[in-house]
Amino acid sequence: MAGGVRIIAVDGPAAAGKGTIARRLADHYGYRFLDTGLLYRAVGARVLDEGLKLADEAAIARMAAGLNPVDLERPDLRSEPIGQMASKVAAMPVVRAALLDFQRRFGREPPGAVLDGRDIGTVIFPDAGAKLFITASPEARARRRLKELREKGIRAIEERVLAEMKERDARDGGREVAPLKPADDALVIDSTDLTPDEVFHRAVSFIDSKGG
Ligand code: CDP
Repeated sequence: MAGGVRIIAVDGPAAAGKGTIARRLADHYGYRFLDTGLLYRAVGARVLDEGLKLADEAAIARMAAGLNPVDLERPDLRSEPIGQMASKVAAMPVVRAALLDFQRRFGREPPGAVLDGRDIGTVIFPDAGAKLFITASPEARARRRLKELREKGIRAIEERVLAEMKERDARDGGREVAPLKPADDALVIDSTDLTPDEVFHRAVSFIDSKGG
């Protein structure tokens, strides 16, 4: 158990290594883990499948409200076109509102939870016991994403991955509702020159210091 800390919020930009650290923290503390990006990706995927227009807010919000856990298991959710559409639907207040309950319900179930996303520490769980904001330079993040894609056998060009990531970061950081930014009380970790182990150890000392 992480002392008195029941909710751990892990936010940050694309491919900063949030998922890796969040999963490892969940394992370490015996907590449940939710990658909230998958919720927006699942909505984006269905918008693409069904050829919906972004102006059709009511239909997209209904889809978001009706999302089931199995929808998060689609194997293609991590693709770049779905990521881009995810960040477009994520800018819609009706979509964010529809996904709020799912995330809060998940977080409240015992014994505790680690959620990774963009607005966990600022909007979803402003009272989270520990908040981390994991970042890295755009170039380092693009290299990591490229490696991930290549390991999956997907061909990709570094410049293109970097450009698409910057586009998504600009949209996520510039939107009016729940823009990407660290909570005032978050520990910001720049992982550009850190190993995954170093990031993990810094995170654990911070969480333990909060829970003591
Ligand atoms: O894995 P990666 O960091 O590339 O992206 P993700 O976490 O799967 O998120 C995909 C998109 O969903 C982001 O670009 C955001 O626009 C959106 N998102 C969000 O707005 N709020 C969250 N809590 C999680 C994701």
